[in-house]
Amino acid sequence: MGILEKMRLDNRTAFVTGGARGIGKSIAAALAECGANVAIADIDGQEASATAAELETLGVKAVAVETDVTSPESVEAMMRQMVDIFGGLDIAFCNAGICLNVKASEQTFEEWKKVIDVNLHGVFLTAQAAGRQMIKQGRGGSIINTASMSAHIVNSPQPQCAYNASKAAVIQLTKSLAVEWAEYNIRVNSISPGYIGTELTLNSPALKPLIEEWNRCSPVHRMGRPDELQAIAVYLAGDASSFTTGSDFIIDGAFTCV
Ligand SMILES: NC(=O)c1ccc[n+]([C@@H]2O[C@H](COP(=O)([O-])OP(=O)(O)OC[C@H]3O[C@@H](n4cnc5c(N)ncnc54)[C@H](O)[C@@H]3O)[C@@H](O)[C@H]2O)c1
Repeated sequence: MGILEKMRLDNRTAFVTGGARGIGKSIAAALAECGANVAIADIDGQEASATAAELETLGVKAVAVETDVTSPESVEAMMRQMVDIFGGLDIAFCNAGICLNVKASEQTFEEWKKVIDVNLHGVFLTAQAAGRQMIKQGRGGSIINTASMSAHIVNSPQPQCAYNASKAAVIQLTKSLAVEWAEYNIRVNSISPGYIGTELTLNSPALKPLIEEWNRCSPVHRMGRPDELQAIAVYLAGDASSFTTGSDFIIDGAFTCV
């Protein structure tokens, strides 16, 4: 099979958490463009429906499933609904995440737990649901988790200790699952984006004023776009990456190099 053929995802099925907008939406669109049917699993059901409708114009099946990744019941219900509609699961993109910019000395325990709940527990619950389904099916699969360059460096000047800790944990969780599920041919990898222009960064009152400073510090002097993460996700989702598991991919315009 040629390399371009290996990038095709025809008749595969995927779910994308946090897929209603931003990075998740862009990667859901890439998976759909390569032929995969996609479930948009997002806490914002309305935006998820709009995104699913957009994806259908690419000629694949797309559904919105309102899901809270911090709730085991909600994640299980999403998985059941997905399997009922599409008949199985081949690709899971566990991507939903939030960031709170609070100084460690002033952070409440509730704030700390909120970030860990979405970014770490959410990735565990969705990856676990995907892994269980893939083990049951017995035909392998690919799980991709969204970590961050914040797993590798401490962002500055904004404080975000819970976010940074949660993303470092996502990488070690990814490696752990990759080792446990290698025998089932389930590959588990993570991506670590640098600053990407999405709602999370462009529309955050705490972060928006810092963009100029980030760009000054970046060797490429700009933020990335969500579509600049599409190729790595397509590569990891399909057969082109058959020997790639337990790895993290930093896509950051060399931000973490300096
Ligand atoms: N934008 C960046 O600069 C950047 C950089 C590195 C990593 N990331 C990570 O990429 C991922 C996506 O970020 P983004 O920039 O696209 O953010 P975004 O805020 O634009 O999108 C996040 C999506 O997740 C959904 N979501 C939030 N909580 C949820 C929950 N409990 N259950 C289900 N869905 C939920 C939101 O409704 C939203 O649609 C996050 O994990 C984020 O930490 C982003």
